[in-house]
Amino acid sequence: TQRVAILISGGGSNMVALARSMTGDHPARPVLVLSNRPDAGGLDRAQEMGIETAVVDHRAHKGDRPGFETALNTALDAAKPDLICLAGFMRVLTSAFTERWAGRMLNIHPSLLPKYRGLDTHARALEAKDAFHGCTVHEVTAELDGGPILGQARLPILPNDTASSLAARLLPLEHALYPLVLRRFCDGNRDPLTIDAE
Ligand code: GAR
Repeated sequence: TQRVAILISGGGSNMVALARSMTGDHPARPVLVLSNRPDAGGLDRAQEMGIETAVVDHRAHKGDRPGFETALNTALDAAKPDLICLAGFMRVLTSAFTERWAGRMLNIHPSLLPKYRGLDTHARALEAKDAFHGCTVHEVTAELDGGPILGQARLPILPNDTASSLAARLLPLEHALYPLVLRRFCDGNRDPLTIDAE
């Protein structure tokens, strides 16, 4: 069995989609949900699913990113994950951390990378008058939102879309894409996958 740790900062809906997918003949199981925020809603949802949880509060390591990441690694090492899935984890990671987990860490980002790395992706896609928006699952490297792309889901932007309507229509696509890509990754398949919404 491949052991998967999921890192969150918020509601954890992508974490739930990933955790639910890891049953039956799936080669992986969720072994830890780790949040940098003690009040992240996803922690309760993980506990309800019987998944071990941990908190490494970034505010306890203010101005000390290496110290924060050492604490992350300590919590992760206790769970012995083979793979890490970032799922709405909103801290930037240093190259020391990404290199330690190189080839074993995935992220989902709410844009069609390489467009719109970083924050406010929905507003930026609207501002640019793009015809399509979407999400991307990629391997995590030292470059922020820059690692090899493993899968993308695309949806058309509608005339009346706002940042929040776009985010709301994108989220179910994220929940479909991330488990598919994780499953393929566990099976050794790194070929980029594309999903198109109506
Ligand atoms: C998701 O839309 C995810 O793509 C995004 O945060 C949301 C988390 O929702 N991630 C990023 O912006 C990463 N920089 P969730 O907590 O319900 O999964």
